[in-house]
Amino acid sequence: SQTSSILSLLNDDKLGQHVFIQGWIKALRKQKEVTFLDINDGSTPKSLQIVSSKKNVPKVTVGASVSASGLLKQTAKGQNEVSATSVKMIGECDLEKGYPFAPRKRYEPQYVREYLHLRPRTKTFASVLRLRHAAYLAIHNYLHQNHYINIHTPIITANDCEGAGETFKVVPDNEQLLKNMAKKDVPFDNAYFDTKAYLTVSGQLHLEAAAHALNKVYCFGPTFRAENSISRFHLSEFYMLELEQAFLDDLDDLLDVVEKMIKHVTADLLEHNFSDLETCSQQKIEYSWIDKEFKRIPHEEALDIVTNKLNKTVSSKTGFTKGDEVALTHYFGHVPVFIINWPKEEKPFYMKQINDDQVAAFDLLAPSVGEIVGGSLRENSYEKLKAQIPESNSQLDWYLDLRRFGSVPTGGFGMGFERYLQLVLGVQTIKDCIPFPRWPHNCKL
Ligand code: 4AD
Ligand code: MG
Repeated sequence: SQTSSILSLLNDDKLGQHVFIQGWIKALRKQKEVTFLDINDGSTPKSLQIVSSKKNVPKVTVGASVSASGLLKQTAKGQNEVSATSVKMIGECDLEKGYPFAPRKRYEPQYVREYLHLRPRTKTFASVLRLRHAAYLAIHNYLHQNHYINIHTPIITANDCEGAGETFKVVPDNEQLLKNMAKKDVPFDNAYFDTKAYLTVSGQLHLEAAAHALNKVYCFGPTFRAENSISRFHLSEFYMLELEQAFLDDLDDLLDVVEKMIKHVTADLLEHNFSDLETCSQQKIEYSWIDKEFKRIPHEEALDIVTNKLNKTVSSKTGFTKGDEVALTHYFGHVPVFIINWPKEEKPFYMKQINDDQVAAFDLLAPSVGEIVGGSLRENSYEKLKAQIPESNSQLDWYLDLRRFGSVPTGGFGMGFERYLQLVLGVQTIKDCIPFPRWPHNCKL
């Protein structure tokens, strides 16, 4: 017979019908004559109660997978349950042999993270995964509705877009192959591509190429950074939403795009995914910022506030710390803050200069999380851009071509998807916003 999802059985349409479900046992209570089983199948954070006479239930434990069929009824308390005539074991779960999650216990995220392959079985992390999916779709839908075209930018690339030297190299793991392919006159150690090859740190440069024909474009894929820091906010592999738009020469217009998108997508999640949000948040989340205007302040003013109002010292080398970023959002009443017009030396080569010292760049800082978006207007003068390209990024003649043939002003940004999820889901550690996190010393499964 056809399997019903538990989500579909929690509302009343199917009351009085014979139903068939499959899922995992979350809780188990045995009485003299009857057994109660709470079953979850991943369609919702809620479980559905199965009640069955004891003789119809095989020897099961919490964690085992089962199927059950019977009548969908309502209890005296008004909850839907299945009065099962048959319960069958699909796969047992031996709690004695190392299953790490005991029934009805809440574990610290750090403990759960030691079992990445079993982590989706926990109620909170299953909610994170459903929300991640919902947010991913909401972003695609929003951008589609606003006529942006999704471009698949490459994962293997010859450039280090951000110029921060945080790249991972890509070389075949086959010395014989490399020897066979090596050409005498090619200066690179990568005989497979005859050029340097990295995992991408950003799809921006390729996205700009597409923007010069398709106008409004975005990419949304995995991004790799050989970050030296182990922090609550950094991953070695994360997802980044990047957007690029042609004929855009006013930074405020770009900030409008970011602000509208974030508000729209978040409102969408709050409307459609509230029970998952409730399940996964580790703290009470404050969403009032959705209805407020995001603050927009020049970098100079931010520096002044941090130094003179918050009495912190800001190193001119490393710029604002995470603590400074969060403090700034608190200073403005827990509202996201755009910091605009950055010192040139703190930002990458491709940004448009507004004077000798500053570029038309922005960072968006969010309450509790700090930077979640970074972007800028792009330098669209061939001469200026050529002068700014660093030696280490020598293979960018193609990028300069964009300024030679039908150049237009463009602007764009990148939003760290897991940082966004941290903000909206109220999750402390970025590693708990991605199914299989990678960070220094951690890439075992
Ligand atoms: O500020 P970033 O480095 O900007 C860029 O890569 C631009 N090329 C984007 C563009 O204009 N198209 O990175 C953008 C965002 C950051 O604001 C942050 O949210 C996230 O990516 N991010 C990380 N998230 C998790 N782990 C890391 N190691 C991250 N590094 C950056
Ligand atoms: Mg940045």
